[in-house]
Amino acid sequence: MIYKRLTSFKIGAVIAFLGLLSSCEKDVRVNERSFSCGTPYTIPKPPSSPPMPIPEDNPTTLEGIELGRHLFYEKMLSGDNTLACAGCHLQSEAFTDVNKFSIGINGFVGGRVAMPIANLAYSPKLFWDGKANSLEELVLFPIQSEVEMHESVFRAVRKLQDTEKYPGMFYKAFCDSTITVENMSKAMAQFMRSITSFNPNTIPGIGENTRNEVQQRGFEVFTDETKGDCFHCHTVTAFTTNFTFQNNGLNEDPTTAPGLFGQTGDPADMGKFKVPQLINLRHTAPYMHDGRFETLQEVIEFYDTGFHVNSTLSGDMLKHVKDGKPVPRAWTERDKLDLLAFLLTLEDTTILNNPKWSDPNE
Ligand code: HEC
Ligand code: HEC
Repeated sequence: MIYKRLTSFKIGAVIAFLGLLSSCEKDVRVNERSFSCGTPYTIPKPPSSPPMPIPEDNPTTLEGIELGRHLFYEKMLSGDNTLACAGCHLQSEAFTDVNKFSIGINGFVGGRVAMPIANLAYSPKLFWDGKANSLEELVLFPIQSEVEMHESVFRAVRKLQDTEKYPGMFYKAFCDSTITVENMSKAMAQFMRSITSFNPNTIPGIGENTRNEVQQRGFEVFTDETKGDCFHCHTVTAFTTNFTFQNNGLNEDPTTAPGLFGQTGDPADMGKFKVPQLINLRHTAPYMHDGRFETLQEVIEFYDTGFHVNSTLSGDMLKHVKDGKPVPRAWTERDKLDLLAFLLTLEDTTILNNPKWSDPNE
């Protein structure tokens, strides 16, 4: 086994070298993939969605996902060995937190609501403000964050290396029992990518028949441009988001919560936040990045006349503005209740107890 690997590594290196000579980058990458380890696995996706984007240098394997699962539930990754990722992303809560603001190991309370983890392979940028560009990169933030796990990634890796359990698991996933920060984050990224949650109720052509009359009317309010007009941002796909960053008018002065602007420095991005998926909303309250709304009724009133008109407000919100103020939409109280009923159909309860994503220590 080891001999075979060395041979293929040598071949790979030679091909890589030849590739450099002919500057044929594509060939080099193809050949790098061939010395990945583990059992290749294709993560199931909704039938109507495009192929799941997977980084070329981190192909999904059963062993990688399983390792990532153990790491996701591993308290050792925190400074005082008390808090795992799963401590704030609880499976029973659709992988979000029970607390309004998450509490880190030092008792610090952050100012952001924890986000649910599902379907993230499709999300080009992560976090409310887009500060991570991949799941691999994202993993390093919560581990090192003072208000979250507050541990150096290098110390975390050394702690894992000193266990009985992890070197063997890393070997199975990456053919290397020397644990590196890179392989640790790759495994966790594979695990998170494998968490998918979609409800046929949102997929056009599949779901309509499962809605009752009230829910169907609510769906029509969601897509009616004079009423809810929700679907430009929360698209009618399995994911109910276009994965972009938008300013939906939470603040009168968008500089009070700069969002994406903090990453890009582009004034046009001021106050823009990630358009979240609308799934398992029963579990993801309170709503918005700062958790300002406790109920979906409040969210609906916000979209009616409660939003603020500001300089970077999305064009899809500006349509509902006149003389610098939100204009009430052409919807009735009944329409709003129907919309609420539709929003609550966007639920996938299988995510809450699927054993593939549960705590492996239990
Ligand atoms: C102390 C609680 C806490 C811990 C521990 C924690 N998170 Fe989070 N997580 C959050 C909060 C809060 C956010 C939103 C932060 C923001 O956007 O500024 C978040 C956001 C995320 C997101 C972004 C999802 C999206 O849609 O963009 C992912 C993925 C994630 N966390 C994974 C992890 C992983 C992996 C770990 C462990 C290495 C972890 N989290 C540990 C609280 C926590
Ligand atoms: C211009 C794009 C846009 C439109 C149109 C829009 N949304 Fe949103 N929605 C967002 C963004 C962006 C956020 C996150 C904002 C934040 O937290 O800063 C959000 C957040 C939400 C949330 C909170 C989810 C959570 O887990 O915190 C709900 C619920 C929601 N929207 C429902 C709706 C409904 C219902 C409509 C139609 C009446 C609608 N949205 C129209 C962009 C939009």
